[in-house]
Amino acid sequence: MKTQVAIVGAGPAGLLLGQLLHQAGIDNIIIERQSPDYVLGRIRAGILEQVTLDLLAEAGVGERVAREGQVHHSIELVFGGQRHAIDVHGLTGGKTVMAYGQTEVTRDLMTARNALGLTTVYEAQDVQISGFEGTSPCVSWTQPNVASAGSQRQELQCEFIAGCDGFHGVCRASVPESAISNFEKVYPFGWLGILADVPPVSPHAIVYGNSEQGFSLCSMRSLTRSRYYVQCPLTDTVDQWSDTRFWDELRRRLDPELAERIVTGPSIEKSIAPLRSFVAEPMRFGRLFLAGDAAHIVPPTGAKGLNLAASDVKFLSDAFKEHYLERSCAGLDHYSQRALRRVWKAERFSWWLTSLLHRFPDTAGFGQRVQEAELDYLVHSPAMSTSLAENYVGLPLDFGV
Ligand code: APR
Ligand code: PHB
Repeated sequence: MKTQVAIVGAGPAGLLLGQLLHQAGIDNIIIERQSPDYVLGRIRAGILEQVTLDLLAEAGVGERVAREGQVHHSIELVFGGQRHAIDVHGLTGGKTVMAYGQTEVTRDLMTARNALGLTTVYEAQDVQISGFEGTSPCVSWTQPNVASAGSQRQELQCEFIAGCDGFHGVCRASVPESAISNFEKVYPFGWLGILADVPPVSPHAIVYGNSEQGFSLCSMRSLTRSRYYVQCPLTDTVDQWSDTRFWDELRRRLDPELAERIVTGPSIEKSIAPLRSFVAEPMRFGRLFLAGDAAHIVPPTGAKGLNLAASDVKFLSDAFKEHYLERSCAGLDHYSQRALRRVWKAERFSWWLTSLLHRFPDTAGFGQRVQEAELDYLVHSPAMSTSLAENYVGLPLDFGV
């Protein structure tokens, strides 16, 4: 098999890149380790910045999100038993975010790719990449389910490899250790999340809570499906959290009025996720380019993960277009620097919001009082609220350039 750009990973980053390249006439094939159903079974955050919405529209998959997504004009913060609204729309001169699940973004992209008849190899086992330091990159894998292929290794010869294979993927792991620097921060707690078919407590804003019992978050997927989270110890397991225990704990972490308004129901998904900040530098190694979670992870506070993956893909697809359509390497040469500049700002924001809203086991006393002062300052200072708002809606693609 042969293609121009081999894309490893059919998450939102890989699928979006494939779509944008195809539209520019650049041939691509996606190699994915899991089945389509498995990929669609992952529950992730659901807040899209305008930059991401624009890109989805450019990729031809903007229609359903525009129709079904829920526009959010503000954020609500709950602390000290009281609720405070941050008027994101007013503070940013009219910007908003859209509540729409990442699973649905992935579904829309998969549907579009299938409709175009583009090749995606699912359930590829033991994927390996090679040759990216020279001029003949190659992706290989075993496809045990295809009778004609037997258990023979399959090979895809290409001109470039896009590593869109997430944090645990093979692409970043194939780079020699001496060529890569990793920056990491692991947080001493996790998020227990549940999905339930109940109307969201706040359909027009995400509610972020910081209480004595810890962080909480009220989000949504639609007007009939909600996503809620509470901070929990990393040692907890899902079996320790019955639905009743979850709802009781969430109510305890909100203000009385919201707690009263919450509609509870059986969970249809429940999971615990650890929180991590991670960046690998650079994001280019010869003919291998990393994008999305393959290169960086943010803690979910602020929901920047998918939005960052989308901006990487914007930079990378622009760079490939410059290469193939204008015969210029400038975009590819600047990709890593351009993407990392945006990545680090989102890393800073996600780390800051995480630090502000969680209870840290080792930060009693002084640290706790400083956090309380910062929250109080945030909701009363237009300067600081504006900083939160402009980051929440997403900084412009080349902010500061
Ligand atoms: N070979 C092929 N595919 C692989 C391999 C491999 N060795 N390892 C992982 N994959 C696939 C995964 O199965 C997954 O479908 O790569 C895909 C990566 O998708 P995501 O993890 O969703 O990452 P990305 O597309 O960068 O999307 C970023 O996802 O994790 C969230 O918060 C993050 O919202 C952000 C978004
Ligand atoms: C979500 O909807 O899952 C969500 C929303 C906002 C966040 C994180 C997650 O900051």
